[in-house]
Amino acid sequence: MQQLALSLSATQAEIAEELLWALGACSVSLEDAGDEPLLEPLPGETPLWQDVVLYAHFEAEYDLNTIVTELCAHLPIETNAVAIKTIEDQDWVRACMADFKPLAFGKRLWIVPSWHQAPQAAAINITLDPGLAFGTGTHPTTGLCLGWLDAHVQNTDSVLDYGCGSGILAIAALKLGAKHAVGIDIDPQALLATRDNAERNHIPETDLQVGLPDALPADARFDLVIANILAKPLELLAPLLAAHSITGGKIILAGLLERQVEALIECYQPYFSMRLAAIREGWALLEGSRKP
Ligand SMILES: C[S@@+](CC[C@H](N)C(=O)[O-])C[C@H]1O[C@@H](n2cnc3c(N)ncnc32)[C@H](O)[C@@H]1O
Repeated sequence: MQQLALSLSATQAEIAEELLWALGACSVSLEDAGDEPLLEPLPGETPLWQDVVLYAHFEAEYDLNTIVTELCAHLPIETNAVAIKTIEDQDWVRACMADFKPLAFGKRLWIVPSWHQAPQAAAINITLDPGLAFGTGTHPTTGLCLGWLDAHVQNTDSVLDYGCGSGILAIAALKLGAKHAVGIDIDPQALLATRDNAERNHIPETDLQVGLPDALPADARFDLVIANILAKPLELLAPLLAAHSITGGKIILAGLLERQVEALIECYQPYFSMRLAAIREGWALLEGSRKP
């Protein structure tokens, strides 16, 4: 297998991608050439970084020098922006699987990929593989939420997982002892993933209901509301999440950075008594109790 790496602007990358597919590439991928995080694009949005490194892979029989010449005929690319190398063949699926190992959260909870044996058979083990929706437990924000759920959920009646992604938090809450959960997401792919993961973990449909935000009845109230989104949506969602929380109910917020803590506490303080519960790798976890 051969790899072509190109340093390009976002506009050049879009043109180069099309050309490379037409010239026989078997894969094309793009990476950020700088440090420009694109956090959570909305469903259907595919924003690009300003400066991009494009990797294209070609089978051994292709002459990459000819392909670069073709490309340069259409795009003003500097020769030092192009690198060609040969890549050793390897089992990519196996290499990717090796990155995901069972992870423990708190005292009772493990997230275990399906190709691994559960390290502690007596623990609360959730089978979960990486997929198209966010939430495998490897990200610090999910980890913070799972740790909190492990420490606090026992006989919680009802849980609202707002921005459920893979459904990992709702599923964990149910396995830890919650009786009923609702998972809400704006991304239909996340709803499919949540349903799929719930089924794999033998959670009946009646215990975990899943839907788009519009599907949540206005009068639904929960003992625990948990939302791992980003600071901006969390800010906008404050009145809505408050409306779905019972008096004395708990709220857990994640997905905000340490520097965003103060502003977010201010947003939720009219409805909840808020406090900073934990920080991990620059990400914060907020905890609150619904005021009467
Ligand atoms: C960071 S992921 C969290 C997934 C999972 N709950 C976890 O903790 O790993 C955030 C999820 O929130 C969803 N989301 C973003 N904005 C939202 C909004 N305004 N309302 C509902 N869901 C939203 C995204 O589609 C995404 O699936």
